[in-house]
Amino acid sequence: MATIHLLVGTTMGASEYIADALVPYIEEAGFSTHIHNPPNLAALPYDEAHIWLVVTSTHGAGDYPESIVEFATQLAQQQPNLRGLPYAVIALGDSSYDTFCEAGLKMDNQLQQLGAVQTADPLTIDIQAYPIPEDAAEQWIPQWLNQLTQYQK
Ligand SMILES: Cc1cc2nc3c(=O)[nH]c(=O)nc-3n(C[C@H](O)[C@H](O)[C@H](O)COP(=O)(O)O)c2cc1C
Repeated sequence: MATIHLLVGTTMGASEYIADALVPYIEEAGFSTHIHNPPNLAALPYDEAHIWLVVTSTHGAGDYPESIVEFATQLAQQQPNLRGLPYAVIALGDSSYDTFCEAGLKMDNQLQQLGAVQTADPLTIDIQAYPIPEDAAEQWIPQWLNQLTQYQK
């Protein structure tokens, strides 16, 4: 059975609430879960038996939030070979910023560039539309999990 690693990027906790809310759905689908807050590349397995689900907000002007800055630097500096690693990104942001969800979209690009396999387009959640952002993530997760059946064994 594959493990889904939830990599949290947050400053004020909203992305962590999303990750926490998704755990029961993921486990119900037969995967084990591991929340990483903050994520650290050295502690993360990257092969086909592991799936990464990055849940990150955006801060500053399109910047990574505090808890994931170091991880993003590790990826950029160490350039790990992530070939074959399945992943998806949930990007949380506020559409009143020009740089809407830019940190999540940057992370999606970075993971693809390192060879990871995108299992879904990034889910962008706008807090203007979803004051309780978990609602959007909970609507999205069943269809994502359905696509992962090949990793369930
Ligand atoms: C100082 C500040 C800067 C922000 N900058 C952006 C931004 O550039 N783009 C965006 O989409 N959202 C931006 N946001 C909105 C946050 O991403 C949003 O509030 C999110 O819910 C925070 O989640 P977190 O608690 O997990 O960090 C910003 C929020 C703050 C307070």
